[in-house]
Amino acid sequence: MQIFSNVPRIISGLGCIDALGDEVKKMNRAKALIVCDQGIKHLSLMTPLTDSLDRAGVSHAVFSDVQSDPSLDLLNRSCEITNDFAADIVIGLGGGSALDAAKLISIMLTNKGPADLYYGIDNIPEPGLPMILIPTTAGTGSEVTNISVMEDSKVGLKKAMISDHLYSKVALLDPNLTLGLPPRLTATTGMDALVHAIESYVGVHASVFTDTLNLQAITMIARYLRQAYANGQNTVAREAMLNASCLAGMAFCNTQNGLDHAMALAIGSKYHLPHGLATAFILPMVMKFNCIANPDKFINIAAAFGEDIEDMPEHEAALLSVKAVKDLLNDLNISYKLGDYGADAVHFEGIAKAALSAGQLISNNPRQVTEQDVVNILKANL
Ligand SMILES: [Fe+2]
Repeated sequence: MQIFSNVPRIISGLGCIDALGDEVKKMNRAKALIVCDQGIKHLSLMTPLTDSLDRAGVSHAVFSDVQSDPSLDLLNRSCEITNDFAADIVIGLGGGSALDAAKLISIMLTNKGPADLYYGIDNIPEPGLPMILIPTTAGTGSEVTNISVMEDSKVGLKKAMISDHLYSKVALLDPNLTLGLPPRLTATTGMDALVHAIESYVGVHASVFTDTLNLQAITMIARYLRQAYANGQNTVAREAMLNASCLAGMAFCNTQNGLDHAMALAIGSKYHLPHGLATAFILPMVMKFNCIANPDKFINIAAAFGEDIEDMPEHEAALLSVKAVKDLLNDLNISYKLGDYGADAVHFEGIAKAALSAGQLISNNPRQVTEQDVVNILKANL
């Protein structure tokens, strides 16, 4: 049996932020709580959003205290605003952290909590307020996933909530909102999208539905990530990357990711590295480990990158996918040597243990993996 779930409505295109107010009115909502971070609030990104709401007669309040890797503490601050304002819709604007925070705030406005009861899968009792999610990076795909990742400050760990109540009603993808993203963030967030697509595509939970989305996402990222990195004002490349990130998000929330994300969470928290960067530099080492488990898929990835796979033995053709990813990382100036990130072999056993504790991620990895495998992968790439 295969089950595929998705958000009901995706609006995409240059300038489509102008449709926001009308979308809110179609849902018979009139009071919007906008959730974003301080940086977004002070950029001009907010203006087209509030202009559209004003034109449609939708009143709005802003909660802008979201930091990267938001914690449950932010819920208390958001509720202070929300209780007075009595919002009837939540609009998330920003990168993955802001959109994940918007999801959490949406469900906490209709559920009694405490929020830590809702960690895990399908533990949120009631639907939240309806959400419209608007990404300003092309990476997490959070606008179309049913996942919210939060820092649990009580235990100092990242934890995920997975529930269909976390799907937005509308995902609105306007490439204009990503034009100002600096090259380094364009590269790391774009690589995160590529990792989502590859891990979902080669994983054991892949289906014909997710394969279709992921192969298209890989093809688009292989073609356009370099261009978006080289010239952030290239609207064709920006639009392709935003759509590709969304396609990968639609897929991976139905399959899970894999060993790359499990290792990236462990390494990222050990060495305080951004999520997109950690997933990016781990990708070639994990692909090399995984490719004997599912060579046909890795050959398709190589072909999507334009590698010449004609008349080549299967394993060599599959390994061309690893070469293609290394070439991309070189062009994006992202090292795939662990030593460049302060990694030390004395930490590898702990990192391997933490990585394998991410059971949901490991369950989708195409190749079965042990702690010793992870240590060996890390040592080979120091
Ligand atoms: Fe990711």
